[in-house]
Parts: sequence; structure tokens; C-alpha cells
Amino acid sequence: MADSSGLTIRNRRRKRLRYHPALLAVSAALAACSNDDREARRNAAGPQPSLERLMAVASPAAGGRLFRQCMACHTIGQGAPNGAGPNRYAVFGRPIAADPTYGYTHALKSLGGIWDPKRLDAWLAAPSKVAPGTKMAFAGFDDPLDRADMIAYLKSQSGARDQ
Ligand code: HEC
Repeated sequence: MADSSGLTIRNRRRKRLRYHPALLAVSAALAACSNDDREARRNAAGPQPSLERLMAVASPAAGGRLFRQCMACHTIGQGAPNGAGPNRYAVFGRPIAADPTYGYTHALKSLGGIWDPKRLDAWLAAPSKVAPGTKMAFAGFDDPLDRADMIAYLKSQSGARDQ
């Protein structure tokens, strides 16, 4: 009797431990959500800010929160498998459509160049305008600060690649 209840408690504890890291990640994301200093950052960037100015105030944490919108199709962890879209680890600063494990559309492959902030900004605003015929079914972010935050996040997940 004592034995079996002891076992139950141990099992329960093990289960709780398994979910614990995920819960921590969620609460960290929520904390970032309630306090990403959006208006202060927008003011610091000034009126009609250039991409450079926005990048100077961009928040990788806020971008990480926005990345939830990408997770239906993309993973971000190093070496994580492709989803409907390619894994996004280290895409920042990499040539466009360069993941050999992923079958890109001709529309994307024919673009050329690398994913620098300017190209990513245009892509995240409207993928289908940058590469008509792309299979990335994402409407885009209207807010330039969202795009800058996302670029900062992708950069932070690039294995310290600079550009
Ligand atoms: C509905 C699925 C879907 C969503 C949501 C989505 N993507 Fe994609 N993404 C794709 C697909 C599919 C491709 C490959 C496009 C092609 O080959 O035309 C792609 C390609 C890309 C590329 C270029 C890949 C490369 O290796 O050159 C980037 C960068 C990218 N996505 C970023 C994002 C970000 C950031 C988000 C979230 C804001 C996002 N995507 C949301 C499906 C999606």
C-alpha cells in the first residue's frame, strides 16, 4: 500500500518534470509579451524610421513571440526537421533558398542574393510580392516594427552570423 502510493507520487513527479521546461518557456514568452516596450521603442526610432533605425531598436524577444505565427510551418532549432516550410535556424545572412534538404519553388530559387535585413524586411512584408508563386502562404506583417523584431530574432538564431 505505502509502496504503491509512493510509486504514484514518483510517477506524478516525473510527469510534472517533463512539462516543466515548456511551462517555463511559455511564461517567459508571456513576460516578454506584456513588456516589450513597443511604444517607447517606436518613439526612439522616430517618425518614418528607416530600416536601420528600426533595427537599432528591434527586440529579438518580441520577434520570438511573433515567431509563433511561423511555427505552423517552420522550426527554428538547430538541426530541427523541416515542416511545410524549411527549418529557419541560421537563415539570417544565408543565401536565399539554400537549404539542400528542402524543395523550394522556382519562384524563390530564382531570386538570388542573401537574406540580409533589407531582403528579409521585404519578404516579411509580403512574400508573394517578393517571389510571385512562392508556396509560403503567409500574408505578411504590416507593421515595420514587427518585421524588424522578427529580423532581430532570426539574427539571434543564426549561430552568431553577422550578416
Ligand atoms: C503557411 C506556412 C508558412 C508560414 C505560416 C510561414 N512560412 Fe516561411 N516559408 C514557407 C514555405 C512553404 C517556404 C518555402 C517557399 C518557397 O519555396 O517558395 C517558406 C520560406 C521562408 C523563408 C525563405 C527560406 C530560405 O531558405 O530561403 C523565410 C526566411 C521564411 N519562410 C520565414 C518565415 C517567417 C519569419 C514566418 C513567420 C512570420 C514564416 N516564414 C511563416 C511556409 C510558411
